[in-house]
Amino acid sequence: MTEKSHSTSLTVVVGSQWGDEGKGKITDYFAGDCDYVVRFQGGNNAGHTVIVESEVYKLHHIPSGVLYPHPVSVIGNGVVINPKGLIEEIESLKERGVEPNLKVSDRAHVIMPYHIVMDECLTGHQGDLAAGSTKRGIAPVYADKAYRHGIRMGDLLEPAIFEEKLQRAYHFNKQVVTKAFEATFDLALEDIYTDYLSYGETLKNYICDTQVDLYTAYREGKSFLLEGAQGVSLDLDHGLYPHTTSSNTVAGQINVGTGIGFNGQRRIIGVAKAYVSRVGISPFPTELDGDEAELLREKGQEYGTTTGRPRRVGCLDLVQLRQAVRVNGLTEIALTKIDILCAMNEHKICTAYNISGETVSEMPGSLGKMRKAVPEYSTLKGWPEISEKQIEIYCKNGYEDLPDSIKDYVNFIEEAVDCPVTIISLGPQRHQTIVR
Ligand code: GDP
Ligand code: IMO
Ligand code: MG
Repeated sequence: MTEKSHSTSLTVVVGSQWGDEGKGKITDYFAGDCDYVVRFQGGNNAGHTVIVESEVYKLHHIPSGVLYPHPVSVIGNGVVINPKGLIEEIESLKERGVEPNLKVSDRAHVIMPYHIVMDECLTGHQGDLAAGSTKRGIAPVYADKAYRHGIRMGDLLEPAIFEEKLQRAYHFNKQVVTKAFEATFDLALEDIYTDYLSYGETLKNYICDTQVDLYTAYREGKSFLLEGAQGVSLDLDHGLYPHTTSSNTVAGQINVGTGIGFNGQRRIIGVAKAYVSRVGISPFPTELDGDEAELLREKGQEYGTTTGRPRRVGCLDLVQLRQAVRVNGLTEIALTKIDILCAMNEHKICTAYNISGETVSEMPGSLGKMRKAVPEYSTLKGWPEISEKQIEIYCKNGYEDLPDSIKDYVNFIEEAVDCPVTIISLGPQRHQTIVR
């Protein structure tokens, strides 16, 4: 028996708000030094942007380490996959000269066309309690997994098993769509069968038992970067339920979503924007409106990476960030988009909610309370416009060179949530980053 390695380097990157915090950028920043970059939950509801010089990559399934030649990109069993979408993503990377070094778990569940139909029906049915889904079929595919009639990537390589499972899942979903929702269902089973076997054929060299590969690498002391999707407020258990996604987005999911019992030291980096954005429906206590919101949305280019929807924007919410620190066990925070908040006189930061006259500093589980939450703010001084040239200088000289008002903003966050901010992002590019 070889000694189990505890020296393995393990870094986890998770969203600390409502998604779109810049996880793609931060993952890419660290991925070059890693052997494996792994997605462990979510599906192509995620949209992670990586910008390298003038090239912009929007990744939905494939981990954000794919642009480096060295690390192996792994899509773990906890991820749900739209195989057609994955093939398109691989092809579009290849067209741009990136050859993905990719492994896809044979246990990852497959998003089927009827899941997308079901997602549409569910959103209508849920009304005010809907999350405003990305319509990628995420809730239905995870539901079918829990019902135990889901299709897994490995099934696409076994025609007889696939047919057996598809029969059951297809008819179940057809019944629900046509009988419960009384909606149109015009998907033919034979077409799905043929199309999905052909996707399996195209992807067959990528599909494998990633559990075993990852475990072997783990025992050999290789370094891992685990890339989360979405964010803590969208977590199925810990988020603002039912306005969430359908997977666990928090760091605790890494073992389940990869099949590895990671048991050593780890860095858990929570990515947080210097403000907050939200695409979809839910209470949003610190939401801005009118001109103030419009200005921030435009300046921050807050439009969904996956759906193009305008993102709702608001002030930094430390109740939310405090929960992210607690639930993920964050060892540090990466604060992004500091550059977007420049040239404003002051910044409001929410330190607690006032709920029916009571000051609440920890995220309530109650939807009723969240509907009533009114933010309590502290006001901090703003910082001047930062030119591209100035960003370069700050990044070269390091944290201490930043304006005092930015450092005050950072200190205020650190003290309020009891977690160090070790990474400051001053722009979307890889190099526009300060590590303390
Ligand atoms: P993710 O889903 O968490 O990976 O985030 P998205 O890619 O959906 O959205 C984040 C957006 O902000 C992307 O367009 C990034 O290129 C961009 N971005 C990330 N960090 C920074 C930053 O520090 N400053 C600016 N201006 N843009 C950033
Ligand atoms: P990344 O990884 C922002 C939101 C949707 C909706 C809710 C449920 O790019 O940060 P779903 O399609 O999962 O059933 O939608 O979750 N949502 C995201 N918002 N960023 C994401 O991913 C998101 N993935 C899902 O808008 O409110
Ligand atoms: Mg995104």
